[in-house]
Amino acid sequence: MTTSAADIHQIVNGLSAPQKQISPKYFYDARGSKLFDDITRLPEYYLTYAELGIMWDNIAEIVELVGKQASLIEFGSGSSLKTRILLEHLSELAAYVPVDISEEHLHASANQIRDEFPHVDVLPVVADFTQEFSLPAPMVMPVRNIVYFPGSTIGNFECEIAIGLLRVMHHEAGKGGALLIGVDLQKDPAVIEKAYNDSAGVTAQFNLNMLQRLNRDYGANFDVNAFTHSANYDQDKSRVVIKLVSQADQTFEIGDTAFDIAAGETILTEYSHKYTLDGFAAMARTAGFAVEKVWTDAKRLFSVQFLTRL
Ligand code: AVJ
Repeated sequence: MTTSAADIHQIVNGLSAPQKQISPKYFYDARGSKLFDDITRLPEYYLTYAELGIMWDNIAEIVELVGKQASLIEFGSGSSLKTRILLEHLSELAAYVPVDISEEHLHASANQIRDEFPHVDVLPVVADFTQEFSLPAPMVMPVRNIVYFPGSTIGNFECEIAIGLLRVMHHEAGKGGALLIGVDLQKDPAVIEKAYNDSAGVTAQFNLNMLQRLNRDYGANFDVNAFTHSANYDQDKSRVVIKLVSQADQTFEIGDTAFDIAAGETILTEYSHKYTLDGFAAMARTAGFAVEKVWTDAKRLFSVQFLTRL
């Protein structure tokens, strides 16, 4: 783990705002990644099983749309089962390019993919994918680039920023390229809220782990036991708002910057936006994409979408 001054600056800035906040990117240390993995197996967390089902049910059509000798560029380290479904069925890939900011995580998962798929040219790229980055040259010249962004991770970002990220994907896809993306859909708010308030309390542990992580890696001294998890669906903004709620008037420090937090005051740790098909198509269009194909599960919980460059 490398602790950068820019990260500390970002954390201190977020905690200095009227609504205290910490970016969800800080969830994913080793324990946070393990807890997220546990979340994806929870019965309440419909996103993962719905997306996996869509992938399984439509893999032949997905393979057809991707075409032969594509380069598959995954935004994120690619440790998921969904990636494995794609790699198992895309038999003539030019390359698989996982892109992640965490070098350690990226190389561990790239090596695992190499073991499982020895015929695939695996070319990991360490980069912050919110900014444009340059792609490696595969051994085989790719026919086209297919950007893959599963899990509805796009939902972490507010509209403007999400469009910016889609524009980066548009750039990386290049001429003739496309985007295969997982997009969570609006539905009964009770179903959504249960997915983020599971009965086993795993999501609460995942959220609270952020504070432990800041204590260990960023010189913070949060009393983790003096905070609780909260997740509520804001229907007006179509998003889950995930927070840590202070249980007392207390102070904490990041390095030598001290902060006061009142009983009941919150730290925002994550948004998870939910979309309508039309709403997402409008965002995609602004970023230069046309929706070519949408697959959903029978209950219309989740969607996988194939977008092409306009
Ligand atoms: C990885 C951002 C898609 O928003 O559902 C799960 C993260 N947070 N439970 C989501 C998450 C709490 C997840 N994403």
